[in-house]
Amino acid sequence: MGRDFYSKSFFAVDDAKIPTPEGVKSCCIVVRDGKIDGLVSSPPASVEAVYDAKGALALPGLIDMHAHLRDWEYGYKEDFASGTASALAGGFTTVVDMPNTKPPVDTAQLLRRRIIDASQRIYVDVGFYAFPTKGLEEVRRLAAAGALGFKVFTYEMSWQDVEEVMANVSRTSSLLLIHAEDAEVLERRRAAAKKLGREDVASHPWLRPKKAETVAVEKALELAHKTGCRLHICHVTTTDSAHLVQKWRQIGVQASCEVTPHHLMLDASAIRRLGGIAITNPPLRSLREVRSLWRCVGEGLVDALVTDHAPHALSEKLVDKICDIRPGIPGFETALPLMLTAAFRRRISLSKLVDMMCRKPAEILGLRDRGLLARGSRADLVLVDASERFRVNSSRFLSKAKYSPFDGIEVVGRVKAVFVRGTLAFEDGEVLVKKGFGEVVEPRRQELRR
Ligand code: DOR
Ligand code: ZN
Repeated sequence: MGRDFYSKSFFAVDDAKIPTPEGVKSCCIVVRDGKIDGLVSSPPASVEAVYDAKGALALPGLIDMHAHLRDWEYGYKEDFASGTASALAGGFTTVVDMPNTKPPVDTAQLLRRRIIDASQRIYVDVGFYAFPTKGLEEVRRLAAAGALGFKVFTYEMSWQDVEEVMANVSRTSSLLLIHAEDAEVLERRRAAAKKLGREDVASHPWLRPKKAETVAVEKALELAHKTGCRLHICHVTTTDSAHLVQKWRQIGVQASCEVTPHHLMLDASAIRRLGGIAITNPPLRSLREVRSLWRCVGEGLVDALVTDHAPHALSEKLVDKICDIRPGIPGFETALPLMLTAAFRRRISLSKLVDMMCRKPAEILGLRDRGLLARGSRADLVLVDASERFRVNSSRFLSKAKYSPFDGIEVVGRVKAVFVRGTLAFEDGEVLVKKGFGEVVEPRRQELRR
């Protein structure tokens, strides 16, 4: 169907299957002027064209609220074009970029530069987080310049500084995302490792213990309570973290949390098998912890599923000493098949998967017209052949990072087609739109006050 479809503004996607809490339902999705016009049983006679989904599963375009698109001086790891092509191939139509770039995004001037650079090169919609580390006035300027939220790595700063940052972010009504690992706990382990001469890859989970995470999660929640800051905890890997979020939520803290497919699908034994390819922060945990993390997902304690797509050059991964390995896993092109495989094995329902990969991220970020297959929403759609089995093959990734800890494993659910704002942007492995087709996602203006 491909290119014929490019310019149609009023069409129907027929014979699609959409997940609902009551099970999968067959339906026809009507699209008009880039928005969903309605869900009906058969194509209306007035449409210009009908796209035959051939029984594919139709999901709202996935929203990844945690990704590293790199570019700039890290363009050798990934750039806006390769990163967003990879996102598109994985079914993501909106991704939000982390600010740990080179140089880091910590001023409004740099954010504006990043937005201009991205807008010429992105294939899907991209929002940007910024670092809130340059004082209240700069935080205000960053919010006004279009930051969708702010991010801190708690192990890079004192808790006093985290508190100040939270107070500042809360004054813009924005969201603070935190990478929660406590500096002191990490430092103690680093010192002990030095004494013992432990620098092998397998030491990674020991060097960054669960305690580093839970101590940081608890402190951050306490400070969010004190400052009134809206808080989102990135990549929780322990059940304690998820329970702490729930506990503080019950006493009024506005907090949410996320999990990655790699923390759900892999355990620390992968590090022995795969070395640097399986190194990520926070680290992979024991099989026991992974099983309990799944229980937290089942109980609804984890809001969002994110990729934490964190590409590096292969040479930065294949290093002997743990301190020299760049942490991070490319995740755009494996996240959906991995989660659909989990759904196939009944570890998660399809409607919960859509909640965690679409609806909740949109809600947390305040993106009103995304993440839902409903009348009036943007026509961002992903069609998946849920019966196709295949093996992960990272050499075919559109990302520059052509490696994966999931290489060779069998998954179900191939992304067949992706519509972005009602335009067929990807079909059968091919990107059909031009660089710059993606739009920069900005916060709703009324969110910015004071
Ligand atoms: O594994 C990780 N990779 N954890 C982080 O916190 C940063 C990220 C990156 O930017 O590579
Ligand atoms: Zn990250």
